[in-house]
Amino acid sequence: MVADRPRTKVLLDGGDPQETLRVKTNLEFLDGQTTNPTYVSKNPGVQKRMASGRRFSPREQLQAYREIVQQISPLVGEAGVSVEVYADLHTTADEMLQQGEEMFNWIPNAYIKYPCLPEGLRAAQMSVQQGMRVNMTLCFSQEQAAAVYAATLGAPDPVYISPFVGRLDDRGENGMDLVWNIKKMYAHGDGHVHVLAASLRRLEHLLCAFSVGAELVTGPAKLLEEWSDAGLPQPDARFSYQPVGPNGKQLKPIPYKQIDLDAPWESFDIRHEMTVKGIERFVADYRSTLLMAA
Ligand code: E4P
Repeated sequence: MVADRPRTKVLLDGGDPQETLRVKTNLEFLDGQTTNPTYVSKNPGVQKRMASGRRFSPREQLQAYREIVQQISPLVGEAGVSVEVYADLHTTADEMLQQGEEMFNWIPNAYIKYPCLPEGLRAAQMSVQQGMRVNMTLCFSQEQAAAVYAATLGAPDPVYISPFVGRLDDRGENGMDLVWNIKKMYAHGDGHVHVLAASLRRLEHLLCAFSVGAELVTGPAKLLEEWSDAGLPQPDARFSYQPVGPNGKQLKPIPYKQIDLDAPWESFDIRHEMTVKGIERFVADYRSTLLMAA
């Protein structure tokens, strides 16, 4: 048992139960797991089947995802397993909800991932009204986080929101500022939305997320194992985050905005080009496993 675990819950970002077991053994704990269509398409069993020339029907793909998630479910702690619905830019809230309801029954510790799009917000609102746990993914703006807060008020369980730090860094913006800004904005709220710092790439991302008090982090196996090899460090009082991008350049700050959390969620401008790009990438990775374009 690890004596001094961070207050922040630590989740693995992946789609391979063997990897989950390895990381859990390495860390001696694992609070939860996040999955997404990209990770499912990279699962060794899925890859093996595709290498043998047998692609999936949509039903078979869903069945494969279900099996993966059912193997991961008992391996992780109380932060659960996040399972992502298929959504393109035309998927309706009802279609997302229908998938979410099915996936929620796969395992006892599911969080259903919906995208930070208007239809994803509607699906999340209906889901929490039914008592389902949700994780709002592809978050790139404070307005999206405000809309998630407003749409899920009254949720019986904590709602997760996943700001994508690394993808903002990739385009020269300081992704950790978004995590910080959301935490600051939510300090004025009722605490029902928990910040899950996602798309983490570097040990410094992990330490910074701990230091800003993110309730959860998710990182790929490589990052969590790097953290484990370093002795599971946590930031001390002298920790200071250096906002430097993958190319070594200083990252542009993302300024904090004063936002009224009590406004109706439909009043927030939640458009963000990175959310759209993220959807397109997930759709492409999902379709790469299919017999024909779905
Ligand atoms: C987590 O929920 C996300 O799917 C994940 O962190 C995305 O990370 P990436 O930007 O490395 O793809």
